[in-house]
Amino acid sequence: METSSLIKVTKTENSKINQVDFDNLVFGKTFTDHMFICDYKDGSWQTPEILPYQPLTLDPSAKVFHYGQAVFEGMKAYKDEQGKAWLFRPEENFERINKSSKRLNIPEFIKEYFLEGLNELLKLDSAWIKSGQDAGNALYIRPFVIATQAGVMASPSTEYKFIIICSPVQAYYTKDVKVKIADYYSRAANGGFGAAKAAGNYAGQFYPTKLVQEEGYDQVIWTDDTNHEHLEEAGTMNIFFRINDTLVTCPISERILDGITRKSVITMAEKLGITVEVRKVTVTELIEAANNGSLKESFGSGTAAVISPIGTIAHKDNVWTLTKPEDCYSAAIKKAILDVQYNVAEDTFGWRYEV
Ligand code: COI
Repeated sequence: METSSLIKVTKTENSKINQVDFDNLVFGKTFTDHMFICDYKDGSWQTPEILPYQPLTLDPSAKVFHYGQAVFEGMKAYKDEQGKAWLFRPEENFERINKSSKRLNIPEFIKEYFLEGLNELLKLDSAWIKSGQDAGNALYIRPFVIATQAGVMASPSTEYKFIIICSPVQAYYTKDVKVKIADYYSRAANGGFGAAKAAGNYAGQFYPTKLVQEEGYDQVIWTDDTNHEHLEEAGTMNIFFRINDTLVTCPISERILDGITRKSVITMAEKLGITVEVRKVTVTELIEAANNGSLKESFGSGTAAVISPIGTIAHKDNVWTLTKPEDCYSAAIKKAILDVQYNVAEDTFGWRYEV
């Protein structure tokens, strides 16, 4: 056992790394040798630990199973060609998980534990972070918090676990994404918790997403729950539309996840000289733009999705196919962001964080 200044570290004696085919990874299926874990009880977060990756033992009545008190984050670590590992805007993930926790009445976590925990974990499992910008090689990092107190009374848990697990990944979407605009189901409502990265927001999407997948689409583009007229997000990604030469995305609201990649896309697009408008986009405007040819591109942004071009958009019985223009915005913005993440370009916005 080793102890960093804040964290108790127990290393595995049996690394699994040699069993992994890093060229043929299925997203989120393989996990590294270690995990970070910190318990909350008696009103405070206890000493964090790094342990060999292992199953959890939970009481079947643990509140997470019954009332869904669970929030999570998605982050990535990247390795440059010199072998140095980098995180991208990790403090933003820390702020966001605490916002999500607050909305679900989960105690907020401690910044030093989060940042030092990540650092220690990534140093220990550094060999799992592979370089290779073109293949999208990265280590996907999944911090999450679950309610562990035993008992089925419908009240907030008094005990929690904050855990970080890591998974080597490549691209989440390997082809252009096909989306269908929601006209019946909703992901979130005003006053709800759509802006939180809460497990339940994802569970509620699975059934409507399955229905569109049966029609040949990958994802739903969610609309407002009142009139299904405002385009909001795609569940695993925020969404952007290029109308003529302006990049448009809807503003963040209490129904929409405040995507860190989304913010980075806006900043980077402006740096590249692209006009960006953050404003409401209606289904009517999109259909008109798709019909008159002014809808030139669309893409989603997210940690897992990176920047994924949308090739097909459907609404009710109408389907539009988008062909990428030569001066493709999504490709230029994606390259510029990846160049920062993989330490190829100068980090003018202070986004990179060396592990
Ligand atoms: C992420 O991009 O990190 C997400 O959390 C999306 C997830 C559903 C894969």
